[in-house]
Amino acid sequence: MSNIILIGAQWGDEGKGKIIDLLAEKSDFIVRYQGGNNAGHTVKFADKKFVLHVIPSGILHPGKKCVIGNGVVVDPEALSDEIAMLKKRGVSIAGRLFISEQAHLIMPYHKLIDEYLERVKGKGKIGTTKKGIGPCYADKAARLGIRIVDLMNDRVFRDRLKLVLSEKNAILKKIFREKALSFSKIYKTYSRFRSFFKPLICNTSLLLDAAYRKKKRVLFEGAQGTLLDVDYGTYPYVTSSNASAGGAITGSGVSPARIDRVIGVVKAYTTRVGEGPFPTEFPPDLMDHVRTKGEEFGSTTGRPRRCGWFDAVIARHSVLVNGLSQLAVMKLDVLDELPEIKICVAYRYRGKIYKYFTPDIEVLEHGTPVYETHPGWRCSVEKIRKFSALPKNAKRYLKRLEELLDTKVTIVSVGSHRSQTIFV
Ligand code: IMP
Repeated sequence: MSNIILIGAQWGDEGKGKIIDLLAEKSDFIVRYQGGNNAGHTVKFADKKFVLHVIPSGILHPGKKCVIGNGVVVDPEALSDEIAMLKKRGVSIAGRLFISEQAHLIMPYHKLIDEYLERVKGKGKIGTTKKGIGPCYADKAARLGIRIVDLMNDRVFRDRLKLVLSEKNAILKKIFREKALSFSKIYKTYSRFRSFFKPLICNTSLLLDAAYRKKKRVLFEGAQGTLLDVDYGTYPYVTSSNASAGGAITGSGVSPARIDRVIGVVKAYTTRVGEGPFPTEFPPDLMDHVRTKGEEFGSTTGRPRRCGWFDAVIARHSVLVNGLSQLAVMKLDVLDELPEIKICVAYRYRGKIYKYFTPDIEVLEHGTPVYETHPGWRCSVEKIRKFSALPKNAKRYLKRLEELLDTKVTIVSVGSHRSQTIFV
């Protein structure tokens, strides 16, 4: 094991937290490279449950170093709350958390614009987490962003905030018919975070370069999932960053030549939160069963997740754009009681069969899935720890996923606890 990127190969919430936690044990550095506190990584650690939104879950392993890369957008209030929560629960970040000075700051107007944009979109809303993620990345691309390094220089911050706020206030008043925000209030609140950031920020590319030269092992922890990637996902129903493997490069300042492997995480079925196409979404009775058994509620917003059959079309797309060399299949146990299990192998739309992912939103929204039906195993797999001991139909199901995705399944998770893991 050396430098690994771990990504979600569906619409996020694949259970990456558990795999990151297992791999973190063998890593020296754990790096977040995109997204912000829209993510929620749930880790059951030493019989305690932690939900982390922006700090890499490697922080729960004593001695491991964690990096928040330049590709992440940082809400200072949310970050300081997360650090306070960790401290309260006995996890120290001292000398272990490093934040890129180039990371962009989520500002109060980003959160408001996120909310107002969703409101005006009505039926066409994205179903965002309302954490200001999209507007923050939009400002980054429009060159209207404010980075941590800008905040650290009082003169730069004052000038930048003045410039950007005049634009934002015009939008708030003239487009959304809302009140303008006070410069001095934001200026004061954010200036207070200067001393908070000071011991945490650095040039994280240099830090990771030094780590590489010392032969340290680095784990890049993806947030969200490939189908939420702004380039490769079900656009426009996506998040605003590159949640796929490429994001690890631009979001951390590490060369692609230094990456050894990309591991993908999928659920044994599919889920998504928020709006957007979901060809294999379950009918209500199955939805209730799987949502309850799988505890499918968002860890950031608490929203019920939409659940459906495994979609090999989107998973194949993830294998392709990420160059996955292996797969972790999570939550196999959730399917235990089902008499039959379906896998979507293609979409049919207006007489045409789509075996490969298409970015055409009309096909994704109105196409019908072409299913294979497999017999269920109808017994509990929760206590099984060896692949060979799995029921015959569970093994067949996993082998079929391997075949369809042309990728080895190397980890199978049969419960939320760390021990409930099969290494194949
Ligand atoms: P945003 O990232 O808050 O802008 O939300 C855009 C879309 O991504 C919405 O459909 C969200 O529900 C979804 N999303 C964002 N973060 C996550 C995540 O960590 N897991 C699953 N879905 C997410």
